Amino acid sequence: MAAAEQIKNLIKSFTEGNDERFYATAMQIAASEARQGHIALAEELKNLIKKSKVSKEGDFLNTEIKRLPVNSAQKELNDLLELIQPKVHLKDMVLNSKVLTSINRVLDEQKKADILFKHNLLPRKKILLAGAPGCGKTMTAHVIAKELGLPLFVVRLDGLISRYMGESISKLRLIFDAMQQFRAVYLFDEFDSIGTTRNTNSDVGEIKRVLNSFLLQIEKDESKSLIIAATNMPESLDSALFRRFDDIISYPLPVLNEIEFLYNKLLSKHINKKELSKYEISNKSLGLSFSEIQKVCEDYLKHTYIYGDSNTSILHLIESIEQRKK
Ligand SMILES: Nc1ncnc2c1ncn2[C@@H]1O[C@H](COP(=O)(O)OP(=O)(O)OP(=O)(O)O)[C@@H](O)[C@H]1O
Ligand SMILES: [Mg+2]
Repeated sequence: MAAAEQIKNLIKSFTEGNDERFYATAMQIAASEARQGHIALAEELKNLIKKSKVSKEGDFLNTEIKRLPVNSAQKELNDLLELIQPKVHLKDMVLNSKVLTSINRVLDEQKKADILFKHNLLPRKKILLAGAPGCGKTMTAHVIAKELGLPLFVVRLDGLISRYMGESISKLRLIFDAMQQFRAVYLFDEFDSIGTTRNTNSDVGEIKRVLNSFLLQIEKDESKSLIIAATNMPESLDSALFRRFDDIISYPLPVLNEIEFLYNKLLSKHINKKELSKYEISNKSLGLSFSEIQKVCEDYLKHTYIYGDSNTSILHLIESIEQRKK
């Protein structure tokens, strides 16, 4: 039978919502039963633990945030954070070597965080993504979460800014508290809406307070979560923000070879390289973002599937490029 101390530990960790300790104690009980020769019981316990872990993880990803210390905060936090299960991998992105190196460095430091901690070093975890629209900033946050096997929480900035003085700050604090509780990637997308000092909005006073609070919170943050902020208006951000981030990654528009690569990736089953270069499709697309090129390809495919004529489809593709450039 389990020792009294183990049972007490089990109840305590359940009450505190400390899953890690709960499972560790349950495993200790299974091990001590096995040592006493109660093999069937030990196996049964191990299977129960395994099943419970799987269903808890499923719960966590598919429903809502659990195990918050303050119950009343739970609902508010659910309104502030959108939980996303990322699906894209690093290999799905077309990136220049500089951006790729930066992303890989974040991933490697996170994966080897234990080694760094031993030497009193911290992995990169506060990242600012800046650059043109449609060039992969939001996609990068998804990729980082996916590659690290972490959930992604997108902060709903519209929900954060409250009409009531000071309320936004307590909401922001809730988010930073959640970072301590749940290791995940927290994305502040369209970050300029709170990071700018040149806002003409009437809520500017509250936004300024949120910005100051963000500066404080990010500075003292010691959680193991990653904080990613994304903006396509870096020039409008408060200068005090930049040094708070461990890394700033810039996303430029795609250059010729990246455009070629993307067309080949998306259309290789439908148009061969020769035809793409005959019509100078990549050259014509200079100035478009990755996202726009993807839409051009979708237009082409739709046209081909509906009308089944590859000649008019390629003309349609050129027209679609021109239209998007306008
Ligand atoms: N570097 C890239 N490689 C491959 N596909 C990309 C890349 N960048 C963007 N895309 C495609 O464009 C879509 C939109 O990109 P994303 O949302 O990441 O842009 P963004 O930089 O966040 O833009 P915004 O500033 O408007 O928020 C992606 O879902 C993806 O399909
Ligand atoms: Mg985005």
